[in-house]
Amino acid sequence: MSTTPSPLVSTAPLLSAEELKVAFPGRRGAATARAVDGVDLDIRPGEIVALVGESGCGKTTLARSLLGLVPPTSGRVTFGRAPLDYAGRALKAYRKRVQLVLQDPSGSLNPRHTVYDAVAEGLRIHGYAGDERAAVSDALSRAGLRPPERFFLRFPHELSGGQRQRVVIAGALVLEPELIVADEPVASLDASVRGEILALLLRLRDELGLSALVVTHDLGLAWNIADRVAVMYLGRIVETGPVEQLLTAPQHPYTRALLSVLPEAEGEPVVLAGEPPDPSKVPSGCRFHVRCQVLASGEAERAGVAEACRTVDLPVLNGGGDAQVACHWAAACAGEGGGGSGDAPMT
Ligand SMILES: Nc1ncnc2c1ncn2[C@@H]1O[C@H](COP(=O)(O)OP(=O)(O)O)[C@@H](O)[C@H]1O
Ligand code: SF4
Ligand SMILES: [Mg+2]
Repeated sequence: MSTTPSPLVSTAPLLSAEELKVAFPGRRGAATARAVDGVDLDIRPGEIVALVGESGCGKTTLARSLLGLVPPTSGRVTFGRAPLDYAGRALKAYRKRVQLVLQDPSGSLNPRHTVYDAVAEGLRIHGYAGDERAAVSDALSRAGLRPPERFFLRFPHELSGGQRQRVVIAGALVLEPELIVADEPVASLDASVRGEILALLLRLRDELGLSALVVTHDLGLAWNIADRVAVMYLGRIVETGPVEQLLTAPQHPYTRALLSVLPEAEGEPVVLAGEPPDPSKVPSGCRFHVRCQVLASGEAERAGVAEACRTVDLPVLNGGGDAQVACHWAAACAGEGGGGSGDAPMT
């Protein structure tokens, strides 16, 4: 795992979401889907933040919104303290500084383009005036494809999955971004290659001071790469904090459930009750209450918070770097000196 946070992490955020909401109107009279439903999130220079949660919880929508690809319904995105400008030219300049890295099978590489053209594409879009060949070589080397010239004329189908993912990363690096947003960057790769790509992202952080938001449904992956983790459930961040603290002393029942099913977890896996979350039907009170193992087991009742769990919504966590949790029970346990120390019973 990433044991020491990058020395480059400073306190002023590079990218921030403030009270960000993205809603999609329902089709044919269906309810609005509140895909991102009030998120504050900071990413600081040189910091890798993992955004973790089950499929459908709004991670991609949040990531796309941070990139200016989806306009927020309300709230705002700021980059270097300036609000994101959605006018064409400003947005184009922004997308040079903040690059999206998708997983390769999602079609981010054109099968008819050589590696060289795939990496040079961004330079051409942005009218790069320098030495294109040198920039492409440099990006491929940084992404671990060496010697780069050996890859110039290859096509995606001639490469391994890991090499293709490196080409995708080189295509982002060639524009010398300050931040990359990587959406499930290793989801389709074998375990061994996965480790190599994660190591590459860590190296880029350390060598280039690159910041990254790594979106993943796999909390175990966060352990290997992140300085900080934000756990998302049904459009909200429900727990966030430095990686070691969040993974060794999780407070939110949802984080505990996600951790309990990892291969290295001790004890019984937590089976969550109820239906997978639907952003067009966000429950009242705590949005997790219909599935919460702590409420179902009577633990929340014993802590005197069961009524609040069902009826009282929780505040949006601020986007900063400290450990925070949105849970009535965790707050009650912390008040008793229990949950805050990670000693609250694992239910
Ligand atoms: N363009 C869209 N129109 C309508 N609903 C959408 C759209 N994009 C995403 N959604 C819905 O928003 C929710 C969150 O989706 P997404 O952000 O892709 O989640 P994740 O990346 O965590 O799997 C899902 O219920 C999805 O169906
Ligand atoms: S607030 Fe209540 S229902 Fe929500 S996660 Fe905490 S204990 Fe569970
Ligand atoms: Mg997604």
